[in-house]
Amino acid sequence: QGPRRIAIDGPAGSGKSTIGEQLARHLGYLYIDTGATYRAVAWLALHEHVDISDGAALQRLTRHAEIEISRPQIKDGRQYTVTVHGRDITWDIRSTEVTRAVSIVSAHPEVRSILISQQRALAQQDHVVMVGRDIGAVVLPDAELKIYLTASLGERARRRYTELEEKLGSHNSTLPSLEEVAKDIQRRDDLDRDHMQAARDAIVIETDHLSIQQVLEAIIHYVEDKQ
Ligand code: C5P
Repeated sequence: QGPRRIAIDGPAGSGKSTIGEQLARHLGYLYIDTGATYRAVAWLALHEHVDISDGAALQRLTRHAEIEISRPQIKDGRQYTVTVHGRDITWDIRSTEVTRAVSIVSAHPEVRSILISQQRALAQQDHVVMVGRDIGAVVLPDAELKIYLTASLGERARRRYTELEEKLGSHNSTLPSLEEVAKDIQRRDDLDRDHMQAARDAIVIETDHLSIQQVLEAIIHYVEDKQ
């Protein structure tokens, strides 16, 4: 009997999604990336021309949004498939426009309260690895294992840049510079600061000099300790 709920939090580029997904696969748990739901709401707001500074309008939008996150049927490197009102937006929610808008959308308490209740309901159903910013502190304060991943801004920007380079190709004219990637992450860190918190009982792992495999092994060690 391992921990039923594992919370993994951390800033952009800390490796939480990659590690969370691999950990869930290793343990046979359900993987829930809460960032994807905030991104889906941001995408929907942009798509439907809803003013992202209008909390009441975003509340209505979020309440009626049919966001589904499911196991991938397509093999194109995706961890899961995200649909909103039946439309596949798995890759659209990773765009620069959505990434720039999402922290403004997620700062509205009206949006957070709706998504947080949905996240709690999901975690009731199964053994879960839930990844986000506030999972251990707010969404699942009773989670049996809480991990907080950190890394320096420079390292997180390098990881994001390498990911983009692999996805777009190094000669692609839309590939931003490393400095631009770092600036975007810094901006998002600043906007996310209010709802990005390590739970007091979280295990903090500083990942600057660790590989994904090393972080994963460290977490599996903590999971085994809880058995
Ligand atoms: O993790 P990811 O970078 O995809 O998250 C996108 C954005 O969603 C974050 O920058 C943050 O504004 C928001 N978010 C949040 N709370 C969470 C997960 C994500 O506010 N639990």
